[in-house]
Amino acid sequence: MCGIFGYAGPDVNPEILIEGIKRLEYRGYDSWGLCVASKDRLSLLRRVGRIGGVDATALMLGQKGAAQAGIAHTRWATHGAPTEGNAHPQVDCSGRIAVIHNGIIENQAALRSTLESKGHRFSSETDTEVIPHLIEEFLATEPDFSAAFLAALKLLVGAYGIAAVWAGEPDCVHVARLGSPIVLGVGKNRTLVASDPAPLVAHTRDVIYLDDGEAAILHGDGFETRTLEGAPVSKRVQQIAFSLPDIERGGFPHFMLKEISEQPESIHNAFRGRIVRAEGTAKLGGVDLALLRKAKRCHIVACGTSWNAGMIGKYLLENLARIPTQVTFGAEFRYSHPVIEPDTLVIAISQSGETADTLAGIREAKLQGAETIGICNVVGSTIARECGKGIYIHAGPEIGVASTKAFTSQLVVLSLLAVHMGRMRGLSLRAGLLYLDALEKLPDQARQLLDKKDGIAAIAHRYAGFNNFLYVGRLYEYPTALEGALKLKEISYIHAEGVQAAEMKHGPFALIEPGVPVVLLAAQAEIRDKMMGNAHEIAARQGRIIAVAQEGDEEIAKLAADVIFIPKTLDPLVPILEVIPLQLFAYYVAVARGCDVDKPRNLAKSVTVE
Ligand code: G6P
Repeated sequence: MCGIFGYAGPDVNPEILIEGIKRLEYRGYDSWGLCVASKDRLSLLRRVGRIGGVDATALMLGQKGAAQAGIAHTRWATHGAPTEGNAHPQVDCSGRIAVIHNGIIENQAALRSTLESKGHRFSSETDTEVIPHLIEEFLATEPDFSAAFLAALKLLVGAYGIAAVWAGEPDCVHVARLGSPIVLGVGKNRTLVASDPAPLVAHTRDVIYLDDGEAAILHGDGFETRTLEGAPVSKRVQQIAFSLPDIERGGFPHFMLKEISEQPESIHNAFRGRIVRAEGTAKLGGVDLALLRKAKRCHIVACGTSWNAGMIGKYLLENLARIPTQVTFGAEFRYSHPVIEPDTLVIAISQSGETADTLAGIREAKLQGAETIGICNVVGSTIARECGKGIYIHAGPEIGVASTKAFTSQLVVLSLLAVHMGRMRGLSLRAGLLYLDALEKLPDQARQLLDKKDGIAAIAHRYAGFNNFLYVGRLYEYPTALEGALKLKEISYIHAEGVQAAEMKHGPFALIEPGVPVVLLAAQAEIRDKMMGNAHEIAARQGRIIAVAQEGDEEIAKLAADVIFIPKTLDPLVPILEVIPLQLFAYYVAVARGCDVDKPRNLAKSVTVE
């Protein structure tokens, strides 16, 4: 949530800063701003709406050439509406200190009134604005800016990733992290900072992940890292694994369509090198065997799409490995007094590895002594690091706000984990091999589904005018129904509800009137006849069925207004294939309705506030 980009180096200019925050726009996109520092002067620009709508260069002409450092921010509003005044950077009374911030300052009201009583004048509704005023206050007493910066941070309660510039020292960017990610980029004659590595890769692949409680001062020719107390810390330089083309649209109209289309490869990458045929199991290097062997129960913590993947993970772990598994929303975990026994394995699932609620859950689990593992996409992310052990899904950068390829990769990894833990608990070699064979077929089967995209687009066009949808499924297809409905509501703003099929009788049936679209998921062999019963009940009430069924199921096709067939696979793996047409359906409906598919209103890709 909110994107931070900063640059210290002699060639800084507004274009570089704008380019940087454009690559972070998926983190928040209701307003934006930047600040360029040159000798004794800061030049500020703040705008509402999507980035780059003004000629920033012309506005900053006076600065060009002389500038030595700059910061830029793309915002997802928490305190105060998205207006120019509330956009970041926020400045102090003198206009010589500018700050950008990701996170929430929980004691901002008290700090603001103290500062006001000392004569500081506030011009925004943001929590962020207390920071430059606090630094201004300390600048009067502390020996230098760096000391004033750290002194101000000590008074903040809450979470932050911060970057600041000061006109008195215009070749530096000061940064700090407590609860919101900060990554430094180490380039030649420049040092950069961002809230994730995406905007850094255009400049350098050498990065440093700050940990909570750490700060840094960036100059064009280097950087110093220290704790918030000011003690020096030495940090490891790591390499970003992806390159520029990975984070560009590559000819696709939207990142979401690109990412849906990448699934044959991303599914493959999730199991590549992890299958051990001779033993009918998986090799998961990031988690040690003893840990998996001793687990008596699992507790999955996740949010959003990752939570839906977690629900499927629960069925997989219980079915294949016979391990009782519970799934909890990140935001509930801390407050629901979860029962964590010594042999409970807590599994965090998070594409970004930065979701604040999931992170809070993991911290709580660790506090209670649980072993934690992360199933993350972003290498080096906070959740991945804090869990210590885990399995990367290797889906590659996911930029569209609605998660697609990360979901299918999470499911592949959860399937591998379930087979692996199952083989330790009595799942036969033959059964293990059956799952592994079926997993290996998925990339080609996903390709076959993508080949149907024109047909799915045609169906989507027929339904683009409807305002209510039900998605219905059982067992593995129940969380798939939740995910299908989530995709539609996220990007097309249509009300859509995922329902457990048998639960239709306990309420949702009241919503069925002639013509209401019901996406009926009926591709699992074991409960196919039960779903047939549901199809009859819906058809009898003239609901309009869009069925997703196994290839060749003509009986279901007869009851449906539209049908999408998916290739045959084992029931527990059905969601991996079935969600692909649901993603495409949501995508084409949203495009037909003229929605901004990659940046849906009010949402953000990475939710780093609780
Ligand atoms: C946001 C994103 C979703 C994502 C959820 C959890 O809401 O828009 O696509 O599923 O966060 O994110 P995570 O990175 O933890 O999987």
